[in-house]
Amino acid sequence: MAHQPLIAPSILSADFARLGEEIAAVAGEGETRADWIHVDVMDGHFVPNLTLGLPVVQSLLKSTDVPMDCHLMIEDPDRWAPGYAEAGAHNVTVHVEAAHDPVMLAKNLRAAGAKAGLSIKPGTPLEDHLDTLKHYDTLLVMSVEPGFGGQSFIPSVLDKVRTARGLVDTGHLTVLVEIDGGINADTIEQAAEAGVDCFVAGSAVYGAADPGAAVAALRASAAKAREAH
Ligand code: DX5
Ligand code: ZN
Repeated sequence: MAHQPLIAPSILSADFARLGEEIAAVAGEGETRADWIHVDVMDGHFVPNLTLGLPVVQSLLKSTDVPMDCHLMIEDPDRWAPGYAEAGAHNVTVHVEAAHDPVMLAKNLRAAGAKAGLSIKPGTPLEDHLDTLKHYDTLLVMSVEPGFGGQSFIPSVLDKVRTARGLVDTGHLTVLVEIDGGINADTIEQAAEAGVDCFVAGSAVYGAADPGAAVAALRASAAKAREAH
């Protein structure tokens, strides 16, 4: 974990009528710049909420040079996820609970030029999917039930983060460990101590008066917690 903690603001908590400006608010220079922009794609079936899809992502990709992190909370990602990779997303994450052939899907995502991400819901054990994860670049540990922003962080998922961190540090996995849900000034330190590399934050960034300042503050808190540990 030599690199700085990565911060990925989730635009789920942004003003959907002004998405370009909301992304620009965290795309300046220096410490206020987001490392990734996290885009939550929900289909109203895999999760009980509906957000946006590929046409909106294609427009957002044209509007910013910050790497895009697409989190697909959809059924049949085998069919739909490669389109996001072809469009130019940096990382495309699918849910293991939804994928039919996650190993083939990872290969397809990488062949289309993206990093391949695998997400697990709070109740999904990590151990069942370790072989599959060998084919992935990113592990997205959900720390809330997927579907909505602004929920409370579930601390028990940090056991999965610790396990994944250990497997990466001993060379058994090569994934970047990402966490999503309820990350804010109060929770980011415990997640950083557990070994998270990349922190998604929706309401903590877009609910703040200055989203760029929130990005900088979250990254600084994570870096400090990691050093102290
Ligand atoms: C929830 C989404 C999250 C959400 C996080 O299903 O995957 O990315 O935007 O929002 P906060 O940070 O407010 O919990
Ligand atoms: Zn998400």
